[in-house]
Amino acid sequence: MRLYHDADARPNILEGKVIAVIGYGNQGRAQALNLRDSGHQVIVGNRADAYAARAKADRFAVHPISAAVSLADIVLLLIPDEVMPEVFASEVAPRLRHKCVLVFASGYTVAFGLITPPLIVDVILVAPRMVGAGVRERYVEGRGAPAFIGVAQDVSGQARAYTLAVAHGIGATRAGVVEVTFAQEAELDLFTEQCFGPAFGHVLTSSVDLLLTEGYPPEAVLLELYMSGEFAYTLEKIAELGMVEQATLHSTTSQYGSMSRGIRFQLPELREKLREGLREIRSGAFAREWAAEQAEGAPTLTMLREAAREMPLTALESELRKELGAAATSEQPVTVEPTGERTLAQRRRLIARLQHLVSRIARRAGRGAVMDPPSETAEGPTAMARTGASETAHPQAPLSESLRPEPSPALGRATLERVLGAFLDDATADRALQAFAQGRSITTVYRMTDTDLAFSLRFAEGKVEGALGAPEAGAEVALSMTTETLDGMLSGRLNPTRATLAGDIRFDGDARTALTVQRVQKDLIRLYSAARTRTMG
Ligand code: NAI
Repeated sequence: MRLYHDADARPNILEGKVIAVIGYGNQGRAQALNLRDSGHQVIVGNRADAYAARAKADRFAVHPISAAVSLADIVLLLIPDEVMPEVFASEVAPRLRHKCVLVFASGYTVAFGLITPPLIVDVILVAPRMVGAGVRERYVEGRGAPAFIGVAQDVSGQARAYTLAVAHGIGATRAGVVEVTFAQEAELDLFTEQCFGPAFGHVLTSSVDLLLTEGYPPEAVLLELYMSGEFAYTLEKIAELGMVEQATLHSTTSQYGSMSRGIRFQLPELREKLREGLREIRSGAFAREWAAEQAEGAPTLTMLREAAREMPLTALESELRKELGAAATSEQPVTVEPTGERTLAQRRRLIARLQHLVSRIARRAGRGAVMDPPSETAEGPTAMARTGASETAHPQAPLSESLRPEPSPALGRATLERVLGAFLDDATADRALQAFAQGRSITTVYRMTDTDLAFSLRFAEGKVEGALGAPEAGAEVALSMTTETLDGMLSGRLNPTRATLAGDIRFDGDARTALTVQRVQKDLIRLYSAARTRTMG
């Protein structure tokens, strides 16, 4: 393992060179200020917007992007990856001078072929492993943020030296830099965002859901798991001391418990899912999908954002953050004291408000009141908090439960089969679905987990085919859920994206295709509701 530090860099290679920082956002501002404070000659290239004004206020000479590129020996491209290919083609590439150095802070656009720099320039990578504010803050503190560095094209014969010098100028070599390829940087970054992060997120939401279902007070659950800041502190210590050594900061009960029980979570299926995610990234499938999504105006992203914002956990967090006020954001981790007059009153108020909030969310989801009204007596919520799982009659609605629709007692297997038969017949003849099927080829299979029923919908070449039973093979999307969830989803009482995020719908197959099918969700609801009413009278 090799990390490069200040002593490995030759910053004087940048002497007399003009460095143009293109973009003055998160990374642009931090890197421009750090490079200037390191004694280099920095100009900013930016379109006329608020970022340009900020750069001027920070006393930089600000030029239009193409003019800044013309003036520069070193060009740092620090605008969003999504807009970079277009800006590069129109404003950067035509102005690049022979043997100038093109610096990327992310390998994405080059690794996935969205930008192919001309062969007359050095192409290097200096990619901080830290948000821009952190890059600046740490530099000012004298520490610096670590970075990945790399060389994709070496025309000058000095590309590596330039890489280390730029890393030195932004403070990264103070902390240490690691050499990687552009592809490795991009793939690692995407893996963290698409696999490690979401897998971890699901562990968190499953834990919150389980503990609320078991009757633990919401504010205690959220504080215990992450909102106290203790977990963030532990992660910091893991980074500082290593996984094993940081454990010595915890009690021996904690050490024994976590190590002896930890093996339970070595799930082969999880590893397979992580591998699947990595495969998608490395093959370029994700980059192609994301480019196509952006070209369409990012409708899927909008849908996902809306669904995620409506998750009850988001509302609970926001309520708890408000209640905790500045305390939760202060540097000191917040602890919940079970005794003490002030804390007791705060806890009681908080629990009452959270109960009210969860009730409201559940009512909106069509479930009606799901919990007892909060007690105002001294023995009320506090007593509840103390009683634990066995004595508490589920006073809090579980997150996923608050999303579930009213059960449909009338919908037995035979009835459902009739409703589905009518629904699939209508779907086959429906104009809106046929229009959706133009130019597509998608098969979705729906499986009920509480009966052996399944059905499929195929949209292909302008035709819609619906059939009871699962196709032998070839479905791009498979959704598994209970009859109650299916009925809720197709009756419009349950948002399928939210239900999937909450774990009520299990999904296998191609995520983008599944989300594309949601564009006709309204039509499916229309057809199913009509078939349901007709069949059931
Ligand atoms: P940002 O979103 O903060 O960029 C804002 C800047 O881009 C502004 O100066 C704005 O004028 C300019 N801009 C936006 N749209 C434009 C357009 N259509 N035409 C011309 N200029 C436009 O960008 P951020 O987050 O600093 O990312 C810059 C690069 O740094 C990217 O390659 C990113 O992957 C990389 N990076 C970002 C990190 C972060 O913390 N955000 C961390 C490490 C790398």
